[in-house]
Order: sequence, then structure tokens, then C-alpha cells
Amino acid sequence: MGRQQPVAYQVIILLIFVSYSVEVQYEFVSDNEYVMSDCQDKPKGALGFDSLFDMSELTLNMSDDGVQIQGNVTSIWDVKPTDRIQGSFSVLYFDRGSWQPTILNIVTKEFCDVMYDERQFWYKFWTKHVINSKDVKDKCLNVPGTKLVMETFLTTAVFGFDVPLKEGRHKFKMDFRAFDENNVQRENSICFEMTGEFYKI
Ligand SMILES: *[C@@H]1O[C@H](CO)[C@@H](O)[C@H](O)[C@H]1NC(C)=O
Ligand SMILES: *[C@@H]1O[C@H](CO)[C@@H](O)[C@H](O)[C@H]1NC(C)=O
Repeated sequence: MGRQQPVAYQVIILLIFVSYSVEVQYEFVSDNEYVMSDCQDKPKGALGFDSLFDMSELTLNMSDDGVQIQGNVTSIWDVKPTDRIQGSFSVLYFDRGSWQPTILNIVTKEFCDVMYDERQFWYKFWTKHVINSKDVKDKCLNVPGTKLVMETFLTTAVFGFDVPLKEGRHKFKMDFRAFDENNVQRENSICFEMTGEFYKI
């Protein structure tokens, strides 16, 4: 399959794309042993994932089936509970030396309203595993000290739409921005990404 990484450093995320009647499965093999890195072209003042959550109670267990995530994360983002949070999620494709956009590109102006919405892809991937969601739902990402307690889960993402995805090098990019009561964006936005290869299974 042409993988270059030693097995111990491979982070595999299973992605299942369900379109009409056909189900296509891909493996996403991260090329970074730490899985997430700061954005290459992050906006001025932007911080990385480690400024969003304290991960000292989180363990990642790499296995052939994917990444097993165990433990809790606590929000430490220095913004205000009254801020509006905008979230953006995109998938980019590496083609002839540069990153190209794909149709997977979602901007959510009121992320806090839909953080635990069952129809969202991050719910299927992540927030459905937050077992204390009833208690922390109202606190979203903008109340420092909020602890999300998670059941142990394996990262598998199921996308329920038609995606003409190619094999090859891709990047998932996530960006969170906080806006104050005057709708002015705070400088300490959060931007992080995962790069790796997609393989059709
Ligand atoms: C890591 O994951 C594998 C497979 O999912 C499991 O068998 C093993 O017990 C896990 N190890 C730890 C330390 O949780
Ligand atoms: C996660 O938080 C819960 C509740 O505070 C605690 O019981 C559990 O030990 C924590 N897990 C880890 C891995 O620290």
C-alpha cells in the first residue's frame, strides 16, 4: 500500500462514506505521530489545539483498528462564555505541490448551538462520546474549566453524503473563532490540522 511510516507511528482513522446505496470505506493514515499539528497557514494570533483543551487526562492508543481515545479533556481556551463561537471544518487535497479545497468545507457561525447536534459530522465522530453532555452542553468551548468526560471510543467517521474523494494526500483543517458582544473577532483563535493519506479499503 506504499505506506512509509513505521507501524508504531501510524495513526489510522477509518472513514466511511455512504452515498445513496454505495458505501465506500477509506482509511486515513496520519503522517504525524502527534496526529494534530498547528495550521501551516494559521491566521495572526491563532493558537493550536493545546490552547483549546487540557489533554493531561487523555490517552490515545494506536492500534490496527484505528485510534482508541480514552479519558477527558478540559477546556482552557481564554475566551468569554458570552462569546459567539464560529467553527470551520475543511478537507484539502494535495495536488501538484499545493493544497486544494474539496467540497468538504463547512462553516458554522453558531457552533455552540450544534456542538451536540446528532446530524453534524463532529457529533458522529466525537461529541456523541461525551457522556456528561447533559451537564456541559450549555458551556460549549467558551467556558474555561469545562470537563468533557468521554467514554472510550475508536475513531471512526461515517459521512452520510456523496463525496467524490480521491486517494492520496489530504488534510483535515479545523478552525474555531470567538467573537465578543460587539461581534469583533478575538485574536486568539484556534487552528489545527491533521495531514495524511487516504486509502480506499
Ligand atoms: C489498545 O487498543 C487495543 C485494540 O483496540 C486493545 O486491545 C488494547 O487493550 C488497548 N490498550 C490499552 C492500553 O488500552
Ligand atoms: C475523567 O473524569 C472522570 C470524572 O471526573 C474521572 O472519574 C475519571 O477518572 C477521569 N478519567 C481520567 C482518565 O482521568
